[in-house]
Amino acid sequence: RNWDGPRQEVLSPVWVATDKDPSPFFIGEYPLLTQAESQQALDAAVAAYNHGRGFWPTLSVSQRIEHMETFTFRMMEEKDRVVRFLMWEVGKPLQDSIKEFDRTIQYIKETLAALKDLDRTGSRFTIEEKIIGQIRRAPLGVVLCMGPFNYPLNETFTTLIPALVMGNTVILKPPKHGALLYAPLLNAFCDVFPKGVINIIYGQGREMIPPLMASGQINVLGLIGTSRTANELKKQHPYPNRLRCVLGLEAKNPAIILNGADLDLTVKECILGCLSFNGQRCTALKILFVEQPIAQEFLDRFAAAMNELVVGMPWKEGVFVTPMPEKGKADYLRALVSDAVEKGAGIVNNGGARVCGSFFSPAILYPVTHKMRVFHEEQFGPVIPVLAFTDIKDPIEYMIHSNYGQQVSIFGNDPDQVAEMIDPLVNQVCRVNINCQCQRGPDTFPFTGRKDSAEGTLSVSDALRVFSIRTLVAAKETDQNKK
Ligand code: G3H
Repeated sequence: RNWDGPRQEVLSPVWVATDKDPSPFFIGEYPLLTQAESQQALDAAVAAYNHGRGFWPTLSVSQRIEHMETFTFRMMEEKDRVVRFLMWEVGKPLQDSIKEFDRTIQYIKETLAALKDLDRTGSRFTIEEKIIGQIRRAPLGVVLCMGPFNYPLNETFTTLIPALVMGNTVILKPPKHGALLYAPLLNAFCDVFPKGVINIIYGQGREMIPPLMASGQINVLGLIGTSRTANELKKQHPYPNRLRCVLGLEAKNPAIILNGADLDLTVKECILGCLSFNGQRCTALKILFVEQPIAQEFLDRFAAAMNELVVGMPWKEGVFVTPMPEKGKADYLRALVSDAVEKGAGIVNNGGARVCGSFFSPAILYPVTHKMRVFHEEQFGPVIPVLAFTDIKDPIEYMIHSNYGQQVSIFGNDPDQVAEMIDPLVNQVCRVNINCQCQRGPDTFPFTGRKDSAEGTLSVSDALRVFSIRTLVAAKETDQNKK
């Protein structure tokens, strides 16, 4: 509001979805803050943490809950506008956009319920060796929250909400694609929270964020994004031991499809797992290992199901494949396909090319080998590498040598065979799914990963812990304080 500085125009990817319309589809603009202005946001967050009016960090848990409930109520009033931005800014299908909004409201409610529990059980008096101690969960300081374009609202809120309710103050940098959807929420943020508690900075991350990190005043980095960004930001902080990181990063989750698996179910789950939101999910299935005897039948059915998917604009009913917001993504995916084809893979279905604008038709590549880029790289898009295996050790070895360790799915019908695989896999990843796709939810379940996939756990209750610290007020026991 009242911004007279430079602005960034936003063109919808829904425009670039079509080659026919030559006029850019302008959907809005946001302010481009300078370094000095983002520094002001940091100063405000530091001041609000240390001695702000309203003393957010020292409010009681019930007072913070009250603020958050008011905010949630105001946010619900903006549902239609936020959902529309989700469709137009990132090309998310209508039903998924509605789901993202509703899931976020539910996430806030579950977080507040978990906070009440934590407060009841986590904040308590204890006496040991004649010392009375009061254990308290205290905030950590200033949290920098940065979310991804694929869940610009929901995943950003999985760091924002726990950070806020634990009493931290926050700087929020919305993702480049998905920044406009914060506009309908700005008044609620301003009206509900004391000054300096939440500061939204709009602009070029590359310019604004390094000075903030270099100031040494960011206490927690809550980032859902790439490991490259996480590593760069960590390096910019002058005191790495003073920075806590809560990170949701990349993954290359495999599905292991065993002989005897229910192929109807497997194909259905693999379509959802590989292609929901065009495969632009960290939890997407990104490589499929199929046991040799059923490889051909699986491929035939999988390709047939894929060729049925409806391509179109996000607001049209039944549409599954939508435009992708990232510039250059279709070219990157095409390069992955060409590399695999040059090295001997075939395209099993009618896909693997840019249809028009930022639409890319999903492609199944088979047989894929370790020499191909798509075997190793996180494609984050609708290209699906498939391998046939004869030795069950192959997919397990894949996870052992992978840079990632988020999740895996096993499809099979023999309980002993499936059970035998769980232990070696659970030692490599953080969630093993049986006869279902990989996914983050339900949000009360722990969500994390090993290696380059995550740092810290983001579930409703774990998140409250990672954005706070256990502290102690201790006193020598006397006759008076014993009572
Ligand atoms: O992009 C990563 C998200 O955490 C995926 O969440 O499994 O609920 O789609 P989801």
